[in-house]
Amino acid sequence: MSNLEQTLSIIKPDAVERDLSENIKKIFIKNNLEIKDSKKLQITKDEAAEFYKVHQSKPFFNDLCAYLSSGPIEVMILEGKNAISLNRKLMGATDPKNAEENTIRKLYGISIDKNSVHGSDSVDNAKIEIKFFFKN
Ligand code: CMP
Repeated sequence: MSNLEQTLSIIKPDAVERDLSENIKKIFIKNNLEIKDSKKLQITKDEAAEFYKVHQSKPFFNDLCAYLSSGPIEVMILEGKNAISLNRKLMGATDPKNAEENTIRKLYGISIDKNSVHGSDSVDNAKIEIKFFFKN
């Protein structure tokens, strides 16, 4: 079964810094994910902590929040059939060294922290994450 879904994508500071945003967007578009909205911004560490609060008990939480707020990011609403799982497939495994060939993290990721992109992991989280960046 295929469902029309929306998901949140973040191009993280390491990828924005290396001017990879357009290459990453081309991968989404080529794979039938439509970019419904996008913006470039920099968030504070407190905002990053709110965004990643599901990870607050994890040992890497502090570094994660410091990293996401360390430079400009680009956030996007992607829409398409099974957009949530499709985006996760296109991103590849969280740790670039475990990611499959031709996935975004394999192509561009540097490390488990600097892994270039984030994508929502469920319908519920997609709604929460889209609202976080695109309040209206
Ligand atoms: P992301 O998909 O944005 O979700 C949470 C992020 O935490 C993840 O990508 C990684 O960049 C980062 N992270 C750092 N260490 C770990 C870890 N050990 N396991 C999972 N995620 C980690």
